Amino acid sequence: MAESMQGLKRSHRCTEVTTANVGEQVTLMGWVQKNRNKGGIVFVDLRDRSGIIQIIFENGSIDEEGFEKAGRLRSEFVIAVTGIVEARSGAVNENMETGAIEVRANGLRILAEAETPPFPIEEDCKTKEELRLKYRYLDLRRPDLQRNLIMKSQVSTLTRQFMAKEGFLEIETPILNKSTPEGARDYLVPSRIHPGQFYALPQSPQIFKQLLMCSGYDRYIQIARCFRDEDLRADRQPEFTQIDMELSFVDVDDVIDVNERLLAYLFKEILDVEVTLPIQRMTWQEAMDRFGSDKPDLRFGMELKDVTETVKDCEFVVFKGAIENGGTVRGINAKGQGAMPRKKIDKLVAFAKDFGAKGLAYIAMQEDGTIKSSFAKFFSEEETQALIAAMDGQPGDLLLFAADKNKVVWDVLGNLRLELARQMELLNKDEYRFVWITEFPLLEWSEEEQRFTAMHHPFTMPMEEDLEFLESDPGRVRAKAYDIVLNGTEIGGGSVRIHQNDVQERMFTALGFTMEKAYDQFGFLLNAFKYGVPPHAGLAYGLDRLVMLMAKKDSIRDVIAFPKVKDASCLMSEAPNYVDEKQLEELGLKICVEDNE
Ligand code: AMO
Ligand code: AMP
Repeated sequence: MAESMQGLKRSHRCTEVTTANVGEQVTLMGWVQKNRNKGGIVFVDLRDRSGIIQIIFENGSIDEEGFEKAGRLRSEFVIAVTGIVEARSGAVNENMETGAIEVRANGLRILAEAETPPFPIEEDCKTKEELRLKYRYLDLRRPDLQRNLIMKSQVSTLTRQFMAKEGFLEIETPILNKSTPEGARDYLVPSRIHPGQFYALPQSPQIFKQLLMCSGYDRYIQIARCFRDEDLRADRQPEFTQIDMELSFVDVDDVIDVNERLLAYLFKEILDVEVTLPIQRMTWQEAMDRFGSDKPDLRFGMELKDVTETVKDCEFVVFKGAIENGGTVRGINAKGQGAMPRKKIDKLVAFAKDFGAKGLAYIAMQEDGTIKSSFAKFFSEEETQALIAAMDGQPGDLLLFAADKNKVVWDVLGNLRLELARQMELLNKDEYRFVWITEFPLLEWSEEEQRFTAMHHPFTMPMEEDLEFLESDPGRVRAKAYDIVLNGTEIGGGSVRIHQNDVQERMFTALGFTMEKAYDQFGFLLNAFKYGVPPHAGLAYGLDRLVMLMAKKDSIRDVIAFPKVKDASCLMSEAPNYVDEKQLEELGLKICVEDNE
């Protein structure tokens, strides 16, 4: 039977008890991690969010009733223990924070009994994630998840403190909004009072934070929940949290400056890692050319090389055709991988094809000086040697080439580079390599929509020197946009915003909006700008992604208390789910899709 804790007060968390407390009476509460009954003596590992401490129940130190209760304890029982702190009688346990002490119990209450959990509550649990997510409240008891959520809380707290000192105000923006079509798909909420109408959940507080700048708040920050109905990946959730900020009377460097100091502060305080400032900057063009990605992982080299010039006169139709079609030929050199078996190379080819490659050409350089190649037969000896030289190839290297439109070549080789780094174990999780990516293209052509779309969002300022091309050559206009990338993950992004109505109108025109449509969608912002708007800029971090990297986790789910799975459902609560007919009626909704489950 569960006892109450009337009259008891917890004195410490488990690992707050130290050798300094030896001889003191303490009151601890928590879960039984494990218990060993050795006849006259029962050892219990007691766990709370701070960690574990060993408790000893010995007949004589505790009364009969207490000793009998100790014998009944099982894993995950919730107990309150009073006792005296002692230096360990046995060997000191070096693996335990409290390994030098133990508590000799003189009182015990069983606050709650527990059924056997469906998986053991322990570090590095090997149980399948589906089962753990179904019982997430038990999974969250595990020390690794607790550490992650504690770290996330620290990041939020320290960010708030730092930003407050920098003069930022924390202001909330609405969750129920009007749907705007740019960006990802919206989550919609039907309105009861306005049947047939919908709110949209915010994809980010973007428009509202810009309005706050119009209203003079000058420096805004919010730790804001955002919602995007997009396909889930390891670093994406349908609802996630941004550290969102906006500043007035600033340009790119001002935003970068405060954020570099924020990052350095967080990494120092939480991980004791020094971030060297200033953080390296790289233009988008350079990132694509060298790494095939706008979020390059700089922990290793294996850079892309453009060999178009070297191979432009060759007879290999694959290369020639691609160049004639306005594409390029680029390669990467996987050092020391020349002996890779054919089967494994074929897997790389298949991998490349998943990213849109038509194929992947290779030269596998053997240690004895010979080569194995999928296309050398189309090359003269001199041409092959020239290509090898261009790739800095040495005996033992594996050279891989893709020929296609730039976008495809970058994507294929950029991803291949990462895949090879994984295979070659080049990714050191203890290393933190930051880089700012700047000068993004303002617009990108959408084949699907047959128009230009905003690469960042429609309020991003074009670079002044490119403004003149906004109408004549929109694709070449660069933006005052920047992303902060850590170890190959985009942890944040932002831009200087357009604050001149004429530039904003030209931007909407470039995006294929009529002014009427622009006003229909964003009228309140455009109107606000008529009443005196300061130049402003901002940035938002994905808090979950940032903590994921700080905690060295591969999945964003490991830093979110109650995450969704790939199909955007919650395995624990079973959201989303059907609702009562009556609720639908109230909302004026009729379901017209078949249940296809
Ligand atoms: P952006 O769309 O780049 O910019 O988002 C900012 C950061 O949020 C994180 N993020 C996500 N994290 C988890 N799951 C997702 N589905 C997800 N989508 C984005 C990323 C990203 O860098 N309003 C602008 C910011 C600005 O211009 O100030 C914005 O939302 O880490
Ligand atoms: P094929 O003549 O089509 O058998 O191709 C010869 C070699 O070129 C094979 O190794 C293909 O994988 C490779 N290849 C085909 N298309 C491309 C491409 N677009 N880029 C790089 N290599 C390719």
